[in-house]
Amino acid sequence: MNLKDKVIIVTGGTSGIGEACSRHFAELGAKIVLASVQEIEGKALEKELLAAGHDAKFVRTDVSNEESVRQMVSAAVAAFGRVDAVHCNAGVWARGLVTDFNEADWTKVMNVNVKGVFLTAKHAIPELEKTGKGVLLITTSVAAHIGFPAHSLYCASKGALDAVVRCLATDHAGKVRVVGISPGTIDTPMLAASCTGWDKPVAELYAEVEKKIPVRRLGQPMDIAHAAAFLLSDEAGYVNGTSLVLDGGTMGLPPW
Ligand SMILES: NC(=O)c1ccc[n+]([C@@H]2O[C@H](COP(=O)([O-])OP(=O)(O)OC[C@H]3O[C@@H](n4cnc5c(N)ncnc54)[C@H](O)[C@@H]3O)[C@@H](O)[C@H]2O)c1
Repeated sequence: MNLKDKVIIVTGGTSGIGEACSRHFAELGAKIVLASVQEIEGKALEKELLAAGHDAKFVRTDVSNEESVRQMVSAAVAAFGRVDAVHCNAGVWARGLVTDFNEADWTKVMNVNVKGVFLTAKHAIPELEKTGKGVLLITTSVAAHIGFPAHSLYCASKGALDAVVRCLATDHAGKVRVVGISPGTIDTPMLAASCTGWDKPVAELYAEVEKKIPVRRLGQPMDIAHAAAFLLSDEAGYVNGTSLVLDGGTMGLPPW
């Protein structure tokens, strides 16, 4: 996959899926803006990518804050001259029944997962349009389609992103492709966090889940990075307004 010289912002680009994507896109020749709230990890990854001969810049960004997002886009243009693609990947997770949550929980999840994408799109699309063939890639989730127990808030946030993919692809047709990537169960710090508080160790829970996934393993962040690189490339020029599910076949399972 050729991403040579493409300027790509990856939000949440310093951990898990976003980190794997940032590394992979850089190896494919892209100039990477690592945008996240993780300052220590971001600076370390920037240093590592630069030392390996890649172009990379960490920009501390809180996607739920409009001024921070505006600065992220400005910093990308200042560093590399333009923005060819943005991977809106930053996200947070929450477990609980609707009766457990308060307004602060709602605000936290929706502000990062939905408002964060909305603000990123708002400030990045004018730059993407200037290139004539920009790409906005949004990490959604199979949670947009499955009624995971005790996940109504997270699922609602990811369901909203599926609608955003469709609508922005229509609104900016001809100038920006807007595509979703919809991971299943991926081995990242977020997944590990979601497995705490159960009556079994994380390794045992992972082994049980792996038995249920048709390909018999958890997804790895690089599984997402390989597909994301394709979706951002010119070869994916006809993929627009839709989401690619990467779940090892889980969504196709019968409901018993
Ligand atoms: N791991 C999975 O199984 C899985 C499945 C489906 C979808 N996803 C989605 O993939 C994306 C990446 O998740 P992950 O599993 O790699 O988790 P992760 O916790 O490893 O990474 C999340 C990233 O988002 C960043 N982030 C959080 N809040 C932010 C904010 N306000 N501003 C900027 N950055 C912020 C974090 O700093 C981190 O870099 C998320 O959108 C998540 O919902 C993950």
